[in-house]
Amino acid sequence: MYHPPLAHAHTTGFAAHARGALPAVLRRLAAGPVSPRRVYDLGCGAGETTRALAAAGYDAIGIDVSAAMIDRARAVPGGADAGFVHASLYDVAFKTCVGIIAIGEPLTYHRPEVDAFARLTGLFARAAAALVPGGLFTFDVIVRRPEGPALDATGVREGDGYRVEWTTRDLGDRLERHIQTGAWLDGVWTESTEVHHVAVFDAPRLVSLLGAAGFEATVSTGYDDFALAVRRIAVFATRMPS
Ligand SMILES: C[S@@+](CC[C@H](N)C(=O)[O-])C[C@H]1O[C@@H](n2cnc3c(N)ncnc32)[C@H](O)[C@@H]1O
Repeated sequence: MYHPPLAHAHTTGFAAHARGALPAVLRRLAAGPVSPRRVYDLGCGAGETTRALAAAGYDAIGIDVSAAMIDRARAVPGGADAGFVHASLYDVAFKTCVGIIAIGEPLTYHRPEVDAFARLTGLFARAAAALVPGGLFTFDVIVRRPEGPALDATGVREGDGYRVEWTTRDLGDRLERHIQTGAWLDGVWTESTEVHHVAVFDAPRLVSLLGAAGFEATVSTGYDDFALAVRRIAVFATRMPS
């Protein structure tokens, strides 16, 4: 997933979501507990948000399952100030922290045979155990069809040294995205084909799962002023004292 051509295209042409979400996330973190300064950035991609967290004075740890994304994150000047880990966010042991963020739908990628809600339930328990009281857990996901239209779509985007073409099939309880990407990498036109299996969620059930894990959660159609696309929600969960 997110092989080198798509990693290049995403980093070059699809950064608007992360940039739009960041101010709301930084504002909420600044209003929360101050110690320890550690914040995890799950599904950090090429690390734009991780670097912004580090620049804001946090001990930022970016985690991504894509080797190509982590390579890009590490290669950016200043990237060394943030720690980047190549791993699945479901396998990482969190240390005590004030924030855990997952911007750009990283929590939606699950193969069809996997119980996505069960996987998130485990993640929520681990996040609750690591966050100090008042700590922030925020992420965005896609919600089920009754909460918006079907998401079947085809699209093409061309930009600085890349071309991406995708078809999304809305299968009701999940989406399947077929993505063909070409990109100039080290002077060579390189192509990749990927299929992304994406789970869609029931917002009240997510809030209830978070409540059971020890969070008080609210759901929004945007990160404050930054509105999300149709059938997307941002979840802001605060760790309650246990
Ligand atoms: C749409 S990109 C968003 C990247 C970045 N957060 C942003 O907003 O630009 C989704 C990212 O989630 C990562 N991802 C998906 N499943 C993951 C997992 N289980 N563990 C870690 N990263 C994951 C992908 O590799 C990809 O980099």
